[in-house]
Amino acid sequence: MSTSSGGKTRVKTAKGRKVGSTRWLERQLNDPYVKKAKAEGYRSRAAYKLIELNDRFGFLKGAKRVVDLGIAPGGWTQVVRRTCPKAHIVGIDLLPVDPIDDVIIAQMDFMDDAAPAWLTDALGGPADIVLSDMAANTVGHPQTDHLRTMGLVEAGMYFACEILRPGGVFVAKVLAGGADNDLVAELKRNFTNVKHAKPPASRKDSSEWYVIASGFKGRAAPDTEDGAADNSKDDDSELT
Ligand SMILES: C[S@@+](CC[C@H](N)C(=O)[O-])C[C@H]1O[C@@H](n2cnc3c(N)ncnc32)[C@H](O)[C@@H]1O
Repeated sequence: MSTSSGGKTRVKTAKGRKVGSTRWLERQLNDPYVKKAKAEGYRSRAAYKLIELNDRFGFLKGAKRVVDLGIAPGGWTQVVRRTCPKAHIVGIDLLPVDPIDDVIIAQMDFMDDAAPAWLTDALGGPADIVLSDMAANTVGHPQTDHLRTMGLVEAGMYFACEILRPGGVFVAKVLAGGADNDLVAELKRNFTNVKHAKPPASRKDSSEWYVIASGFKGRAAPDTEDGAADNSKDDDSELT
């Protein structure tokens, strides 16, 4: 049961509902991005994270082939579709996804050995952008949660390095917590520009942030003598 006062919706704890679930429901009901997503026909509030990142970095412009890793329920792909109406989009998720016009979607674990080949076949050519909003189910232990999601991001990055065209872009959700430094170092070896941002739609109490790696160097990117590529163009930046 819920009540409204001063524009804010309060949810009363129902019999059988845990306090944590009540708080989650209350937060959802009062979240401006949830309301906006409903009004604008987006399937998730996460759509606004991609909109804000793209407003800032402009990576979707002119994209023809896009991969969406962790596509469910489909908010990011809706943004891509609205921004690039002719783009060929392929997505994958553990969860089922309601169909989206002209988007090829597999319900499959991205860590399954068969996933990269399926995505590559479905895309039918080199990608302009690989998006990863994948997050592992949390177990409540911050370091474990961090490592599990970072494993997904890292796999996403290696896949991106296989499927992107030279000059292509990899955008991924990362969780702060230690292993992110190694990821950024590896991204810098493979991309000429590696930026980071926490878009306003990302909740302040969440440890997530996003990497935007552009200018993919190509599959056989040569390293410099010390094993690191030239990063003189790197420009890490934060959204406020
Ligand atoms: C934050 S949601 C993505 C939201 C999406 N970007 C949107 O805007 O609708 C993260 C997704 O990653 C998916 N995911 C987590 N691990 C995965 C894996 N191993 N393979 C495929 N998808 C995975 C989850 O099922 C979940 O749907």
